[in-house]
Amino acid sequence: MLLTFDVDPWLAVFGRCHIIFLHLPIGLLPGIALLEFGAAIFRKPTPRGAVLTLAVMTALVAGAALASGLVLAGEKTDSDLLGEHKLAAIVMTIVCGLLPIMAAFKTRKVFRITLIVALGLSVYAGHLGGSLTHKKDFLFKPLERAARLAKAAADAEQAASNTGTGSGNAVTPLVIPPVTKTHFELMIAPIFERACNDCHNPDDFEGDLDLTTKDGILGLDRDEPDRVIVPGKPDMSILIELCELPIDDEDHMPEIDEDEPDAVQQLSKKELTALRRWILDGCKFD
Ligand code: HEC
Repeated sequence: MLLTFDVDPWLAVFGRCHIIFLHLPIGLLPGIALLEFGAAIFRKPTPRGAVLTLAVMTALVAGAALASGLVLAGEKTDSDLLGEHKLAAIVMTIVCGLLPIMAAFKTRKVFRITLIVALGLSVYAGHLGGSLTHKKDFLFKPLERAARLAKAAADAEQAASNTGTGSGNAVTPLVIPPVTKTHFELMIAPIFERACNDCHNPDDFEGDLDLTTKDGILGLDRDEPDRVIVPGKPDMSILIELCELPIDDEDHMPEIDEDEPDAVQQLSKKELTALRRWILDGCKFD
């Protein structure tokens, strides 16, 4: 999704400076808090000149971070996450704009409240921004992954004990497999979930592809019909073609995640065969 250069290239470069500007208010706000609250804690006079200067700087760099961010957002596909990040950043910039005004007052109470609100907003907007660049919930992903693996292990153990191995002469309960799950839910969705959906979900939406919904998988959410998956024709489906490319081919899927190269799990032969078979049978979801 590169910018087609109907946008001035210098403006595009300014947009990409977002990754520099955004760190400035994040660094300055705790600095101001240290000066303001540190002085209060040590019962020294507030260094009002320094606080005011830093507050002016914070307002300016927050403005620059917002402006460049709005330009950069033009390069991205719209998503709820991007919308939330934008909104949080706009509110944060307004609050940062109020900081120098409040800092100029003699009473400190209103300024301190504004400062704490600005700090909170910077953490929130920063977290949303981090989720945009490092995939959703990057921070807590290791915990999520550990919980998923633990659950899979527990399920496997449960399944093993249900087959009756080692349960002596106790009567093993008859396990009736749930009949409500479709072939798609049992065999296909878990493949996408395990190997693809970290990147191909409505928020990350890499390659404009969402593999978490039927419309996304069939490309019905796209403006132009294309050949990501062609029901009945696995050999014409780009999805299969990309997964079967040699692993060192730069177009190979699943792509290696630069943030977490070990986290991406490749498809097994069996999974590829299941995908091919499902496409050949016409991509049935029920
Ligand atoms: C680490 C992130 C990541 C993972 C995991 C990943 N992909 Fe991708 N995928 C991408 C990116 C990025 C692109 C866009 C590449 C480009 O535009 O050059 C892409 C593009 C695609 C496309 C092309 C879409 C189009 O319209 O051209 C398909 C198909 C695809 N991926 C399928 C898959 C499948 C199937 C899996 C799981 C087996 C998978 N991907 C796993 C990041 C990933």
